[in-house]
Amino acid sequence: MPQTRDAKILILNGPNLNLLGTREVATYGTTTLADIEALCHEAAGRHGLAADFRQTNSEGTLVDWIQSAKGDADVIILNAAAYTHTSIAVRDALSAVALPVIEVHLSNIFAREEFRHHSHVSPVAAGVICGFGADGYRLAIDAASALLDRAKT
Ligand code: DQA
Repeated sequence: MPQTRDAKILILNGPNLNLLGTREVATYGTTTLADIEALCHEAAGRHGLAADFRQTNSEGTLVDWIQSAKGDADVIILNAAAYTHTSIAVRDALSAVALPVIEVHLSNIFAREEFRHHSHVSPVAAGVICGFGADGYRLAIDAASALLDRAKT
């Protein structure tokens, strides 16, 4: 479906998510990152939105991409993976750009090890979706679309 709304969602993925499909399948399932990217383009298209989908293993690259979202994207969907729990730099970059952020995790981080229960991203996010596997990205795109609608009114 073509982009019919003048808005773009930046979907950023952090370290080790490139290994989805073979990585800890009991936790993350067999869906690959390429499958998730396809799902995101389909879901964004359904809302008439453009989607820019990226993955990096590097904290600095993630910070660079967040910084460059200002003036380019309207909403950020972020699965910062392990940097969620460690990176003040990622949080500061999100605060600096002041775009709406939807935090996503495939797994339910609150049902896992204690160190995953704290997120540096959540305090600066509009909302958090976790535990629904790849469907979480679809839910995040629905939420992004609703946020954009609300911002217009
Ligand atoms: C994750 C959860 C994180 O705790 C973990 O470090 C990841 C993936 C998730 O999508 O469930 O790499 O963000």
